[in-house]
Amino acid sequence: MAFSRITGLGYYVPDNIITNNDLTKWMETSDEWIQERTGIRERRYFEHGKDTNYSMAAAASRQALERAGLAPNDIDVIVYATITPDYFFPGSAFLMQRELGMDGKPVIDIRQQCSGFVYALSIADQFIKSGMYKTALVIGSEIQSSWIDKTTAGRNTAVIFGDGAGAAVLTATEDPQHCILSTHLHADGRFAEDLFVKEPGSSRPGRAATKEMLDEGGFNVHMNGNAVFKHAIVRFGEVINEALEANGYQQSDLDLLVPHQANIRISDYVRQQLGLDEAQVVNNIQRFGNTTAASIPIAMAEAWEQGRLQDGNLICLAAFGSGFTWASALIRW
Ligand code: UT7
Repeated sequence: MAFSRITGLGYYVPDNIITNNDLTKWMETSDEWIQERTGIRERRYFEHGKDTNYSMAAAASRQALERAGLAPNDIDVIVYATITPDYFFPGSAFLMQRELGMDGKPVIDIRQQCSGFVYALSIADQFIKSGMYKTALVIGSEIQSSWIDKTTAGRNTAVIFGDGAGAAVLTATEDPQHCILSTHLHADGRFAEDLFVKEPGSSRPGRAATKEMLDEGGFNVHMNGNAVFKHAIVRFGEVINEALEANGYQQSDLDLLVPHQANIRISDYVRQQLGLDEAQVVNNIQRFGNTTAASIPIAMAEAWEQGRLQDGNLICLAAFGSGFTWASALIRW
């Protein structure tokens, strides 16, 4: 029986730091409001001419591969999550595959928004468990800064999001004590329009992308923040408990929670629900904001660098986002 083990983690964030005070130049907001409501102090924005979605993913992947002791061509499949790809099609996985010289290797582009990385991890895990592949590269990479509306009209989303990429290398193992134990995926399309970008859309009269759509704000992120918040605090707890119960564990068995970095208040609420102390939850939203599919692999890679992922630890990844989607992965490190 094959299992998958995470053998390398890496991340890349652009050098360009945007503080809350920087945002006040473009919109009516304040450092105090942003920190109090979200916990965010600063985020990174990509630099045009230096960073792309796929180049950030490639940088994160190189680091993850080096730490796993593997070369790009040792990888059997790439699963790449992003909602902010370089092109409308083909997906950024193709561009990153080319960048890393992995020609001919299969690539899978997925979306799934803030739950993208956990969905991608689950897909890669199934390939390894089935015996079809022995190694996988799982990516979350986002450039949100070119999508968000940086005027006062867009401030409820603009202050939240940032750019960055994270990557994990998965390797087949027969050791059930050091592997991904299970993954749990959910979605509820009834709430699709509570957090979405409407355009460009194919089901429109005339062209799929027009200047009118741009003028009407159809390319902006629209979010019903209260609805997202209320569902998130319920679904996070549910999907973490689902992962624990599926493996015969209790909340007190958990060593570390790596939640999607949506909002520090959501993270704190979930931490209290589970009876975890602050050191048991990874939070870096203060420095990077919400990087959508990239947030979990960035947080995991940082936690690994800080020595917070120790041999034998029980670690849970959990995400909630647009769709709505929510997902978890339980890992014995
Ligand atoms: O990965 C999933 C992604 N999304 C999330 O996780 C978001 C979940 N939701 C949230 O985190 C919160 O709903 C927000 C942080 C987005 C907003 O916090 P809130 O406490 O729900 O604020 P609100 O939308 O109810 O707005 C309260 C007030 C409003 O003013 P009035 O109508 O009371 O005068 C807003 O216009 O705050 C105003 N406001 C702002 N003020 C300063 C909204 N955004 C800002 C801003 N700066 N950036």
